[in-house]
Amino acid sequence: MANLSTSYMGLNLKNPIIAASSSLTGNLENVKKCEDAGAGAVILKSLFEEQITSDKNRMIGDMNYDAYTDAYDFFNASSTDYYLDEYLGLVEDAKESLSIPVIASVNCVSPGQWTDYAERFENIGADALELNMFILPSNISTSGITIEDTYIKILENVKKNINIPVSLKIGYHFSGMGNFINRAVKSGAQGIVLFNRFYKIDIDIDKLELKSSPIISDPSEIHLALQWIALMSGEVPADFSGATGVHDAEGVIKHLLAGASSIQLCSTLLKNGVNRISEIVDGLEEWMDSKNYTKISDFNGLLSQENSKHPEAYERSQFIKSVVGLS
Ligand SMILES: Cc1cc2nc3c(=O)[nH]c(=O)nc-3n(C[C@H](O)[C@H](O)[C@H](O)COP(=O)(O)O)c2cc1C
Repeated sequence: MANLSTSYMGLNLKNPIIAASSSLTGNLENVKKCEDAGAGAVILKSLFEEQITSDKNRMIGDMNYDAYTDAYDFFNASSTDYYLDEYLGLVEDAKESLSIPVIASVNCVSPGQWTDYAERFENIGADALELNMFILPSNISTSGITIEDTYIKILENVKKNINIPVSLKIGYHFSGMGNFINRAVKSGAQGIVLFNRFYKIDIDIDKLELKSSPIISDPSEIHLALQWIALMSGEVPADFSGATGVHDAEGVIKHLLAGASSIQLCSTLLKNGVNRISEIVDGLEEWMDSKNYTKISDFNGLLSQENSKHPEAYERSQFIKSVVGLS
C-alpha cells in the first residue's frame, strides 16, 4: 500500500489533499468532517481585513472623536476584537478537535495595523498562516511594481511578528510572475498557492445588468496553475500548493507531477460534499499502486520544467512551433 504522506512548509501531512479556505471551512463541524473524510490539512475560512475595518468605520461613522472619546475608543477596539476573537475561537476549537494541521487564513490588501495581530494566530496554536492577497491592478495611476511592493510589505510585516510558516495565495495578475514569486520567497513565504479564483462579472443581455459568473470552478480551469507550478517548482525554494479546477484524483496527480507539495480542493467539495476527499485520496492511492510508486517523492515533480527532457515544451516557443509549424 502506497505511503501518501508529504511535507508542506515543514508541516507533516498524511496526504497532500487540503480542504481549501471557503465558507465550508468556516465552522468546526465542517472542518471536522473534512478530517474524517481524510484531508491532510484544513485551511480555515479567511478573516477579511476589510471586514474588520469597514465594520469599525460603520459603527464609528461620523462620530466626533473629541465629543465621544470613550465611545470612539470602545467601538474602535471592540469591533476589531469581535471578528478577531470569533476567528481565534475557531482556530482554537479546530486545534483542540483535529489532529491534522490547521492553517489560519487572512484576506489582506494593505500592510496596515492588522499585521500586528498576526502573532495571535500563532499564540492560539495555528500551524501556519495563509495570506490570501488580491489587489486588483485596475488603478490606472498605480504601477505594477508599486502593487508588488505592497504584497511584499504585507508579507514582511506579518513575518516580523510570527514564526509559524506563512504561505502566499495569489492570483495570476502579475506581469513578472517568476520574479514576484522569487521576491516573495526571499521575503519569507514558505508556501506559494497558485492560484486563487476570484469573483468575476458576467452580463445579462436581456435585463441589461451585471450578473455573477459561476462560483463553482470547472475542471478545465486547472491548466494555468499546473503550468506555473511546473515552471516554478524547481526554480525557487518554496513549497507550492495547487489550487483552482482540481475536481478529481487525476487533477491531484497532475499537480504532484508538476511539482506541487499539496493540492487545495474547494469547488468539488461544495458540489459533491466533503466525502469527495476520501474518493480522491483513494484514487491517488490506486494510481500510485498501478505505477508501482510507493511514496509521493517517487514521482513528485517528475514533469516539472526543471526535470523535463523538453523544457521548451513549457514555454511559448513550443506554442509557436505547433501553431505555425516552425521546427
Ligand atoms: C464560496 C467560496 C468561498 C471562498 N472563500 C475563500 C476564503 O475565504 N479565502 C480564500 O482564500 N479563498 C476562498 N475561496 C477560494 C477557494 O479557496 C479556492 O481557492 C477557489 O475556489 C479555487 O479552487 P476550486 O477550483 O477548487 O474551487 C472561496 C471559494 C468559494 C467558492
